[in-house]
Amino acid sequence: MAQVNRDAEGLRSPGPGTPPVAVAPRVSLPGAALERARLALVRGEPSEAAKGERQRLYRFAALLILVFAYRDFAVPWPGLLRPLIVRLVWCAALLGCGELLRRPGPVSYRAAVRIAGVASAICCGYLGICVGGTRGFITLWLPALPLAALVIAQEEWVGIVLTGLAVHVMLLVTCAGEGLPLAAVAGWQANTAASSLLAYFASREYGRRMADEHDALVRLGDSEQRRSRSERLATVGRLAGGVAHEINNPLTFMKANLELLVEDLTGPRTLADAETREMLDEVQGGVERIRRIVADLRVFAREEAADAVESCDVRAAADESLRLAGVRMKSHVVVELMVPPGCPAARITPRKLSHVLVNLLLNASDALEGRADGKVWVRVTEERGGVRVSVADNGPGFPADVLQHAFEPFVTSKEPGKGMGLGLAVSREYVDQVGGSITAKNRAEGGAEVAFWLRPA
Ligand SMILES: Nc1ncnc2c1ncn2[C@@H]1O[C@H](COP(=O)(O)OP(=O)(O)OP(=O)(O)O)[C@@H](O)[C@H]1O
Ligand SMILES: [Mg+2]
Repeated sequence: MAQVNRDAEGLRSPGPGTPPVAVAPRVSLPGAALERARLALVRGEPSEAAKGERQRLYRFAALLILVFAYRDFAVPWPGLLRPLIVRLVWCAALLGCGELLRRPGPVSYRAAVRIAGVASAICCGYLGICVGGTRGFITLWLPALPLAALVIAQEEWVGIVLTGLAVHVMLLVTCAGEGLPLAAVAGWQANTAASSLLAYFASREYGRRMADEHDALVRLGDSEQRRSRSERLATVGRLAGGVAHEINNPLTFMKANLELLVEDLTGPRTLADAETREMLDEVQGGVERIRRIVADLRVFAREEAADAVESCDVRAAADESLRLAGVRMKSHVVVELMVPPGCPAARITPRKLSHVLVNLLLNASDALEGRADGKVWVRVTEERGGVRVSVADNGPGFPADVLQHAFEPFVTSKEPGKGMGLGLAVSREYVDQVGGSITAKNRAEGGAEVAFWLRPA
């Protein structure tokens, strides 16, 4: 009876007479959310959630300003009009910047935080002048504005520096208007410089952390791409033997036909026109067969854009997978494909679906090796509004100890060099990524069955 061997490194350690089975912890691969976060970071933007949070802060600040405007309105005082107008302008500027920073693209995001910082410094400074100047409570808060900008802009240090500079200018204007002595002006500027420097360094530190996180995500994304590419190439490699055989067959009869045709053309003519036509048709058919195999292999090995449309004609993907896997299965397995008419499109990219199906078909083919009566049933049915695909065979079924770990990476009962134990793990990853589910079982009547369900496109 086969054993699942767990050694320290999760490597193969077969016991005497035990098929080699290895178990490693499941590797969690990045999904669509991670990919979106990675793309946002690559473009130099915070995530949508962070943008939403910052927009809420702008709105909250605008609401506070409105509350003060209402208080001014409710308890009127002489010279009220100008501060009231400034408050309304400030409020509108913050709301507008909140909308601007939700627009896609790093340019509008940066513009929004810079405009909001500078507009706040100007409006707040002007309000300070209107209500008491350096003796009023508004001017008292002005030097703290760069720190408030830090809360919202965080990694956008240029916005923070611009806010600090605008505060310096507004304080100079205020002090000059009051004719304050130089020492008092220097005191106000020193306060502002201290808070600006603090905000600037905190922002640079935050930016550095973001850059580290960005690098880690880019590396993770790259290694995921490399892993997916090498797994696909490994599958192509596994198909290679069959492909060579499949191409060699038509090549042999094409060569023989062409030699006969050349002989007939150059020597005495022995072939009737109908025979010549038939031989040329055969050559044409052979060329077409080879063209299809090469075209399928190219589709299979091709890169796919991260945002490729997730909609797939299941029948077409199943036909393509059968042609691909068929080059290895044909000699010993009979495959039966059942797809209901009008089967809905599934939410997955065609390449991923083909990859999953080829993996399952190759597993069935391996399980049926050496059997004269090998059969594989590929059944597609509509289920819960989506599509269910099952691949069943009449082989020996999953070894009992493999079945419960079958979808974990590097679990295999095959000899080294024959199987890596990645086919089912990758298949589950692809199905999970699009919100589907996949299961494996041994059939009561004998043989294995792997079935997966996909959402409708
Ligand atoms: N149709 C099947 N019948 C019997 N056993 C199966 C079947 N499909 C999978 N298995 C078992 O599950 C194990 C894991 O399959 P999986 O496709 O993940 O890896 P593999 O086929 O061993 O290697 P790889 O796919 O990386 O070449 C196989 O080694 C085999 O023991
Ligand atoms: Mg496999």
